[in-house]
Amino acid sequence: MRTEELLELMKSRYTTKHYSGEKIPREKLEALLEVLRLSPSSVNSQPWHFFVASSDEAKAKILPAILDFNRERVTLASDVVVFAVREEIGPEHLKALLEQELADGRYAGLPAGTDYDAGRRHFVDLHQKERRDGFAWETAQAYIAQGFLLMAAAAIGVDSTPIEGADFEMLDRILGLREKGLRSVVAVSLGVRRPNDSNASRPKSRLPREAVVTEIR
Ligand SMILES: Cc1cc2nc3c(=O)[nH]c(=O)nc-3n(C[C@H](O)[C@H](O)[C@H](O)COP(=O)(O)O)c2cc1C
Repeated sequence: MRTEELLELMKSRYTTKHYSGEKIPREKLEALLEVLRLSPSSVNSQPWHFFVASSDEAKAKILPAILDFNRERVTLASDVVVFAVREEIGPEHLKALLEQELADGRYAGLPAGTDYDAGRRHFVDLHQKERRDGFAWETAQAYIAQGFLLMAAAAIGVDSTPIEGADFEMLDRILGLREKGLRSVVAVSLGVRRPNDSNASRPKSRLPREAVVTEIR
């Protein structure tokens, strides 16, 4: 992608307020789920699980937890992704990560006896035991995946809405997440904009460069 194309994409992507009810092709949804799976996270912790509501039944199931002003952004969207994170990163998850990295050949060539995931355990302990901000830290990772999803959706012509306007405790109850050691933190609707979606033609508004960027000299 050329630099100008990237910037044009950033300017043209926007938060869809009104969907048409049309479905996006399943291959595009699958590609976007793959983008989520491939998203980076601190120490490759991947503390997330993504729940996808595509059918009318599935969307109706989560609807009570969606705040009024966002409801149409769920019912008329094609698919809704709910981002959940672990209540804590425990030994089982650490083991699964390490086994996957070993299977994927990440440690090929390292000397025998290497404590491969010592660095990861250090950061997990730092957040969970010392700073006690483990949940916020994991949520930050989920938001990285959200950013990748929004960008990727725009790149393949899929409209999207990030959604914080939901009752996530209710969503956890509906999806039985606490029993699984998970908590929902944010959601994203994906779909096809209505032709007259008011937000599409509104100018983008951002603070000027000097207000948000400083060169360190
Ligand atoms: C984490 C996050 C949560 C958001 N929650 C909502 C929401 O619940 N409903 C909604 O209509 N827009 C929501 N937005 C959209 C923002 O208002 C929007 O991104 C911002 O105004 C910038 O506009 P743009 O996305 O069109 O560039 C959310 C955005 C982010 C990043």
